[in-house]
Amino acid sequence: MILIETIEKLKEVLFRIRSNGKTIGLVPTMGALHEGHISLIKKAKSENQVVVVTIFINPLQFDNPNDLERYPRDLEKDLLLIESITDIVFAPSTQEIFPTEPMESYNFGEIETIMEGASRPGHFNGVATIVKRLFDYVQPNRAYFGEKDFQQLAIIRKLVEQTKEDITIVSCPVVRESTGLAMSSRNQLLSFAKRNIASKVYGIINKSKALGTPIVSKISEFVLTEIKKLEPVTLDYFTMIDEATLQPVESLEDAKSVVACVAFVIGEIRLIDMIRFK
Ligand code: PAF
Repeated sequence: MILIETIEKLKEVLFRIRSNGKTIGLVPTMGALHEGHISLIKKAKSENQVVVVTIFINPLQFDNPNDLERYPRDLEKDLLLIESITDIVFAPSTQEIFPTEPMESYNFGEIETIMEGASRPGHFNGVATIVKRLFDYVQPNRAYFGEKDFQQLAIIRKLVEQTKEDITIVSCPVVRESTGLAMSSRNQLLSFAKRNIASKVYGIINKSKALGTPIVSKISEFVLTEIKKLEPVTLDYFTMIDEATLQPVESLEDAKSVVACVAFVIGEIRLIDMIRFK
């Protein structure tokens, strides 16, 4: 595994790799790597000859400066964790990526105005800005993203469509801790007790499936009532959407595939999750 910190070096190394006809899989991350990232890297490794993992905490996608400041950082630990399954790690400084103020402005229509887009203005423009730049530097054949960030995945697919990139976007299922809590870098910021409480949100949503009703208002009522009992959890949103369009559904029968997306704050930490209903 080689560690690269500059765009120039990255392009030079990848140019040689591409000239040798090798396929490249890209796994963009913000570090604080966990089993969820490992699953993306392993999938990339199984489908490409060379795997590039990027580790960059993108300031543009944080609407809350405290969230950016406390985001976990431990490059050495990350490198140790992935050295045996990764070929290239690109870990640039903020100055390297944004030497001048970024001016990119994207329009993804309605899908960027709901859920995360509504709660975190500018978030998806920030995500698209960095992802597009990484695509340009790496020019991968495939890029890998987790389904936990379900709306981000839809935004990235739209970005690829709009910019006509020849990149296959591969999504990987949510990886969970033994309690059911979705793996997230932010979990590290929670005490053991809070982590345990956070896992109950997943438990409640999963339990709502056993109600056996297709009516979303009934499912939501159950979920909202149960989450309200969880101290110190504050629900941001619980939305059930059509997987294909991200439009909210009123009944499970309204779409071929329905997923529930949830965002909540525990203590000061904001977590998201995605659970497939059908
Ligand atoms: O999902 C993430 O970790 C980030 O949003 C990403 C895709 C690496 C862009 O900074």
